[in-house]
Amino acid sequence: MKQTVPQLMAATEPLVMVTAYDYPGAMHAQQAGVDLLLVGDSLGNVVLGYDSTAPVTLDDIIHHARAARRGAPETFLVADMPFGTYHTGVTDAMRHAVRVIQQTGADAVKMEGSSPEVLEATRTLTRNGVPVMGHVGLLPQTATAQGGMKVQGRDEAGARQVLEAALSVQEAGAFAVVLEVIPARLARVITERLHIPTIGIGAGPHCRGQVLVTHDLLGVYEGQHKKIAKRYAEIGAQSVQAIRDYAAEVRGGTFPSRENSFVIRDDVLDKLY
Ligand code: KIV
Ligand code: NA
Repeated sequence: MKQTVPQLMAATEPLVMVTAYDYPGAMHAQQAGVDLLLVGDSLGNVVLGYDSTAPVTLDDIIHHARAARRGAPETFLVADMPFGTYHTGVTDAMRHAVRVIQQTGADAVKMEGSSPEVLEATRTLTRNGVPVMGHVGLLPQTATAQGGMKVQGRDEAGARQVLEAALSVQEAGAFAVVLEVIPARLARVITERLHIPTIGIGAGPHCRGQVLVTHDLLGVYEGQHKKIAKRYAEIGAQSVQAIRDYAAEVRGGTFPSRENSFVIRDDVLDKLY
């Protein structure tokens, strides 16, 4: 049974979240029993082949969230609002969020940052029944402005800024907040100070939940070892090997075999001569 926002907020066990971008990925995650799915704009990096999340559009997220929803109808599904879709005023933010919710069946949306525009959008959406997940610390959509994809909140000013960002996102009505790539003990302080769940990625073990990009935990890309992720499989290497085996069998004449082929009666075939 799909969990509700109040259930997620009251959870006493660690919340488990992974990304999903399509039907099989979402189906596998639901079968594995995760609490939340994220149709992240990491879609751009791990599925669409871009080198950042910035080119991902609202239509991209909608297309993929629809597929993910079909694969996991019973799992709470959060869709990322892409870069630029929630920064130009509350009317645009609300209209875009409503499109995502209506067209995909997502249960909530996620927005990065704590600028006045993002906080205002968070307020408007939550006030009008769209659950919002916040996201502070490293913000991939605008990482260039943060000095690249690096740890946030290491010095006092930075740490205070991340804490304040998390508090303001909570105050604006978010039901949970992602903490991305910040020191573990800062994440602990933030988790203790907030009443909404913190969901960490590269933020240590003290958060109330964890999120990983599924392609990272599955080891889809060979040679990419990220400190913030752990590889629980080597799916990329397995995929290459499986396709290599298939190619070798086609070339060697062993696939398809009799068991992969259909039969026709002799008398039917004879009539063709
Ligand atoms: O897009 C994404 O996958 C994310 C998670 C890493 C939190 O935002
Ligand atoms: Na994202």
